[in-house]
Amino acid sequence: MEKKIPLTIDGRAVQGRAGQTILEVARHSGIFIPTLCYMDRTTKVGACRVCVVEVEGARTLVASCCMPISPGMVVRTDTPKVQAAQRMVVELLWSSGDHNCLTCERNGSCELQDLVYRFQIEKPRFEITPPGHAKDLSNSMIQRDLNKCVLCGRCIRACNEIQVNEVLDFTRRGSRAKVGPAFETDYIDSDCFFCGECADACPVGAITLRPARFGGRPWETKKVRTTCTYCGVGCQMELNVHEDRIVSVTGNSAFGEPNLGSLCAKGRFGMDFVHHPDRLKKPLIRREKGGDLEEASWEEALDLVASRFKEIREKSGPDALAGLSSARCTNEENYLFQKFMRAGIGTNNVDHCARL
Ligand code: FES
Repeated sequence: MEKKIPLTIDGRAVQGRAGQTILEVARHSGIFIPTLCYMDRTTKVGACRVCVVEVEGARTLVASCCMPISPGMVVRTDTPKVQAAQRMVVELLWSSGDHNCLTCERNGSCELQDLVYRFQIEKPRFEITPPGHAKDLSNSMIQRDLNKCVLCGRCIRACNEIQVNEVLDFTRRGSRAKVGPAFETDYIDSDCFFCGECADACPVGAITLRPARFGGRPWETKKVRTTCTYCGVGCQMELNVHEDRIVSVTGNSAFGEPNLGSLCAKGRFGMDFVHHPDRLKKPLIRREKGGDLEEASWEEALDLVASRFKEIREKSGPDALAGLSSARCTNEENYLFQKFMRAGIGTNNVDHCARL
């Protein structure tokens, strides 16, 4: 059996596994420690220092997201010293950006905003000096406003470690540091695949989904869990619906396998077909040779297909028919389809688009 490591957090005796960090054990034990740069499934970088805690015997405050636990460790997460340090970090981040929440797309789902509120900071004690970066509006999918960036690096790790696209990194250094593709190009001129993982990873309004702009506030949208329709992987996704329209698609790591919250460009940006005026919602039948396609009921359409199948089979035999199935169907649907072709029609002429 795996040996547990005993430690104390805020006077509570807790246990963790070897290799776990203070933050992981605290979260598991229901103890809150604020974070910004920490992101599950990626390298722990300890960049923002919002998660600092006191560890007995340590010379300085330590970043709980990076510090592994050890036996007998005594941790305090809520002393005046810890709170002052965390508050200072939040004030510095607020004052070094253009965090105007009025029209920010992340108002209501912004992790910096939540921390400002939690620490009851009415106004930062430092002068607000946004860096003055130009917005990247080069494409119709992802909007970047680096004046809101907190340089947590989550977008970089999402791009490089989760999607392995390796498009984003830090450029420049110190107070001039920024995040973006090589040579500071806009997304449209970079190797970006437009998966939108960077927008999902961003804790603030620096990288947002452009189609969702002014589409509805987070608290106005209803989240609907569904399965992506584009391929056979079965990625789980969240549709953000406002007034019966899908305004955006986001991942949710809580849904687990198979995609652990990640999505590709099609899943994230390809759902606009749902509201497209040309979308076929009813079957069409050409009733006369050379005539136009006309709307029909499902009963009429299925009766027609069945009678035509029957006609062909009687005239030319079952092997005159073939069925092509789709990776967009579930395993169960594909199983039923081959069963229908083999047992119903009587042919082994059945194939699948993924083999082409
Ligand atoms: Fe620990 Fe940022 S969350 S340093």
